[in-house]
Amino acid sequence: MNDERQTVVIARILLPAGRERLAERFDLREGGLDATRADLLEMVPGASALVADPSMPVDSDVLDAAGASLKVVANFAVGYDNVDLDACRERGVIVTNTPDVLTEATAELAIALTFAAARRMSDAERDLRAGQWHGWDPAAYRGIEIRGSTVGVVGLGRIGTQFARLAHGLGAKIVYTSRLPKPETEGELGARRMELRELLETSDVVSIHVPSTPETLRLIGEAELELIGEEGVLVNTSRGPIVDSVAVAAALEHGTLGAAGLDVYENEPEVPARLLEAPRAVLLPHIGSATVRSRDGMASAVADNVIAVLEAREPPSRVA
Ligand code: DGY
Repeated sequence: MNDERQTVVIARILLPAGRERLAERFDLREGGLDATRADLLEMVPGASALVADPSMPVDSDVLDAAGASLKVVANFAVGYDNVDLDACRERGVIVTNTPDVLTEATAELAIALTFAAARRMSDAERDLRAGQWHGWDPAAYRGIEIRGSTVGVVGLGRIGTQFARLAHGLGAKIVYTSRLPKPETEGELGARRMELRELLETSDVVSIHVPSTPETLRLIGEAELELIGEEGVLVNTSRGPIVDSVAVAAALEHGTLGAAGLDVYENEPEVPARLLEAPRAVLLPHIGSATVRSRDGMASAVADNVIAVLEAREPPSRVA
């Protein structure tokens, strides 16, 4: 019966691959792409499920506004640093994410950024478009090759491991940091585990794949960038707060960092003006998981999680 339908609040939007299955079963309230926190606080009272995404913080105020009806926060992302897990646990609210379906897309984007930054593609294209290409110049836009280089993978989870496989396939040596050794990946890729400092000193390319937590906040700052060095390339497809982007801009300006490929920023969608102006930077608007297959898979995973919890089953990807 209609008046027994539970309400699912979609903080911003959910793609049809997930939305349609939710709409068949539940009443939906949707904020739209421009929804603000104030909109969310207004929409959420009485919701049984809340679909959030990395741009929408879910904290105790949001949970309290939702009230006792709320059973699940289903994040439309693999990362869930926007959700206060403790506050959810305290209120008995389940939290879910969307792992696996975006592993390939994000790892491939990290490879794309590695090539683009290593080969100075943004600077070269910008100059061409601006009419600043004055002919073949043997000294211009010189970068590094991946084959034979050492690629440092900071965090060997699902995406980090897939990135390492792709880089290994391109002929790179793989080194990595991880809380625990990964003997299988070491066997498969000949990867070597090391401490962060040694990895930064050793690597030609450093790609970030750790989650955003209080421990990884500004993991890469001025001193770390200096260790990556004037020929080195930094790639970040994880979360902005892990890298001090103003320090990246300064290192690029001063030539103490070779190049950077960034997909994520501390205060999205703001990007520091200094970074926008910096040379040898390839800057993308958080598109790591933006393939049709991956984003549809994520939307579908959100629906699977919401439906499971609201039907009193264990959700496929619970994080709290
Ligand atoms: C994630 O899933 O965490 C991604 O950053 C979203 O693209």
